Amino acid sequence: MPVRLRRKALLAYILSLSSCCFILWFFMFISYDQSLSPLGRIDLTAEDRINFPHEFEYKHSFKSSESRAHEKSTVTTRGVGLIPSNALLSSMQWSEVSELYHKYLSANQIVCQNVERLGRVTDGGWDMCNDSQYSPKGQCIVYSFGIADDFSFDNAVVEKFGCEVHSFDPSIDMQTKKRGDKKFFYKLGIADSDRTLASGWSMSRFESIRASLKHMKRTINILKLDIEEWEWEVLPDLLASDHLKSVDQLLIELHQCQGCSKYDPLQTDKEPPRDHYVHMLGILSQLYQQNFRIFHHHDNSACRYLSKFTMTELSACVEIGLVRIPAQ
Ligand SMILES: *[C@@H]1O[C@H](CO)[C@@H](O)[C@H](O)[C@H]1NC(C)=O
Repeated sequence: MPVRLRRKALLAYILSLSSCCFILWFFMFISYDQSLSPLGRIDLTAEDRINFPHEFEYKHSFKSSESRAHEKSTVTTRGVGLIPSNALLSSMQWSEVSELYHKYLSANQIVCQNVERLGRVTDGGWDMCNDSQYSPKGQCIVYSFGIADDFSFDNAVVEKFGCEVHSFDPSIDMQTKKRGDKKFFYKLGIADSDRTLASGWSMSRFESIRASLKHMKRTINILKLDIEEWEWEVLPDLLASDHLKSVDQLLIELHQCQGCSKYDPLQTDKEPPRDHYVHMLGILSQLYQQNFRIFHHHDNSACRYLSKFTMTELSACVEIGLVRIPAQ
């Protein structure tokens, strides 16, 4: 064979080999399943951002250490939507943040096998997680903020778990007193600073309360917050401190707008401003980052409204229960 022909054959051989490699690489690239990454598809592509939020759902696979640590209580491997970064949140439309907020609050992030209702069956009772690693044990302490006229949850905690319960409400006609064995009441509200309101209510930070009750080194087994929008002031204060590391369970009613919790069929538009949604989503995201997982959610039907964005009925007050999983 002439030298020139042999050279051509060699060139063709090299060319076909490299194109083969390229095709192989290309197929591997496009079939790469991002759901296999331990934290799921967190990095949204530019396209996902445009198609948001429909493209946001992803198959979630928990870190294997987490699954192992929770074998008995069975961690769900169902999809859990995470909240995007603040930068991305800030670029989203009003309708998108509204939809994301309600969607986020309509899915559990962890399975609790023994959800127990404490207190009244209807409004006033609260669902807590009684799975062994989260249930209140020994000399347990429960803080219950926002009572109105219903101590049924507070009383049930003492009866069923023998915990010490500290109840707080500045709005009711009752003075600070010991209500009974292990039952304490304080005419005091929770806020992000110690202050007295024009209405005369005394407000205190979580830290001040915990210090004055000499609970700084104790576990707060359950922290219940039903405080009519004050949660959006209180939670940032808690998240910026170390206190949530001592809280095992958080039971919160989230109120998305002022006066939302009062039944008022005339208040048809309960959509808070876009920026408030961004604020609320940022706080929910931080709770997730601090290892709190939603095991229970419930739309309070007294706060139902017709969303102008989705044209569906939503609730402006959602109760959620969260447990703190061990640090990753
Ligand atoms: C919580 O679980 C324990 C068993 O782990 C059980 O003895 C107890 O009755 C449960 N409490 C409630 C209120 O269901």
